[in-house]
Amino acid sequence: MDRQTDNDVSDVSNLLYRHPELYEVVYDGANHAVARLAETILHDHLGRQPESLLDIGCGTGRDLEYLAKHITDVVGVDHQQAMIDYARRRRPEIEFRVEDMRTLRLGRTFEAITCFGYALANVHANRDIDKVMATYAAHSHPGTVLILEMIDPLRTDKLPRGFHIDIPDLRADAIAEYRHHPAQQLLERQRTWRRAQGLVHDHVNYRLLYPKELEYYLDNHHFEILGAYELPEKLNAASAFVAARYRGEQP
Ligand SMILES: C[S@@+](CC[C@H](N)C(=O)[O-])C[C@H]1O[C@@H](n2cnc3c(N)ncnc32)[C@H](O)[C@@H]1O
Repeated sequence: MDRQTDNDVSDVSNLLYRHPELYEVVYDGANHAVARLAETILHDHLGRQPESLLDIGCGTGRDLEYLAKHITDVVGVDHQQAMIDYARRRRPEIEFRVEDMRTLRLGRTFEAITCFGYALANVHANRDIDKVMATYAAHSHPGTVLILEMIDPLRTDKLPRGFHIDIPDLRADAIAEYRHHPAQQLLERQRTWRRAQGLVHDHVNYRLLYPKELEYYLDNHHFEILGAYELPEKLNAASAFVAARYRGEQP
């Protein structure tokens, strides 16, 4: 059953989204591991780096900043104003927009599209996933390479459970607990931060997509899967990176 779970900020009470400056402290990016893997995947499938790239659910824009070293035409979109405000302050040379990935229409295409950090998993209902696929297609031309960082539903036990912040203004530790809601294919994360000032609770639901399901959604929107990739050395061990190519609408 396709339960209508709305994807909006009210569904995510995430301390790090309210304080984007902390996001990059907690997720230190492991020396740009995700962006470097993306460069490898793009090079493998395009034979060079793309000339244009759209990062959907870009958050603070850190991956985009790294990718922009070799790609001149980059755009980042995220539906959270606080994330985009921070991204614009930190990375003023990059174009960032506040947009919902279900409805985004920039009226142009890109050679590469990325969606990292489980951004797609924030979209829960089947019909909304279809809308996001339509967004990917609307910004693609034949040959565009799409890279998605997905939660591997068979490796959710590898999702991080301990989190740590240690900066001059704040020391905090968090423990995360995950709970499956199989009927909705949602994985709920409850995270509790301990700080000197007391506890703060985080909450997020992730939609899990099994590989054949993802293939079906992508195929319906004219993408063919090129391959699945993992980060080296088991970083983000629950992540599966899926690359797909837009083949265009056949007449
Ligand atoms: C965990 S963060 C990942 C950010 C960044 N891609 C990274 O890997 O560091 C997920 C991002 O997806 C964004 N997001 C969730 N739902 C969205 C939607 N419907 N449209 C656009 N962005 C969305 C959130 O605001 C958040 O910044």
